[in-house]
Amino acid sequence: MAGTLIVATHNAHKTEEMRAILGDLFDEIVDLTAIPGLEPPVEDGETFAENSAIKALAASQEQPDAFVLADDSGLEVDALGGAPGIYSSRYSGEDATDASNREKLLEELAKKENAEKQRTARFRCVVTVAQNGEVLSQFDGTVEGTIAASTTGEGGFGYDPLFVPEGYERSFGELSEEVKNGMSHRGRALEGFREWWEKKS
Ligand code: IMP
Repeated sequence: MAGTLIVATHNAHKTEEMRAILGDLFDEIVDLTAIPGLEPPVEDGETFAENSAIKALAASQEQPDAFVLADDSGLEVDALGGAPGIYSSRYSGEDATDASNREKLLEELAKKENAEKQRTARFRCVVTVAQNGEVLSQFDGTVEGTIAASTTGEGGFGYDPLFVPEGYERSFGELSEEVKNGMSHRGRALEGFREWWEKKS
């Protein structure tokens, strides 16, 4: 079964990664930039799973019969008690940019006495598939790593230039898209979606 998959995001980086990982399953993968008038919902859930479902349901209620996939993701840093977590995209405030969020993360870590020893962190992602305003399934993925002392690399987005995955010495900002997608939180969550989709088809 091919057809169109709607990704409930305005984040072009997420869409690009979804296309790279799932492109072979669909005729096309479009995001909300292709559907004018569909405003992003308020993400007032308390977990990645809740916010992921909120986004998938909001888009799916407006797009009858379409399969809608939403991703909610973020970075948990142990020395910061799991912050920024579900607030990753707005960590440095309402007008946050990826660069201001990275800067804030390094500032917060610098304030912690044991931060040098506790730079362990993980990216988490929960993907929700919905149709006609109903959640069909959810899948999660995690990748463990550490936060570097400074940014490296130009690739990826968000916290990628600060995140060094376990077993590597280079950040997601330096590693290739293929390497990142093969082990990332999003890649792993989408593996679960792929299995579900292939079973269903
Ligand atoms: P969301 O759009 O509400 O799910 O927020 C996701 C935020 O988490 C992004 O804006 C980034 O700050 C961060 N994030 C999620 N996935 C990644 C990733 O793959 N690389 C880097 N940062 C990520």
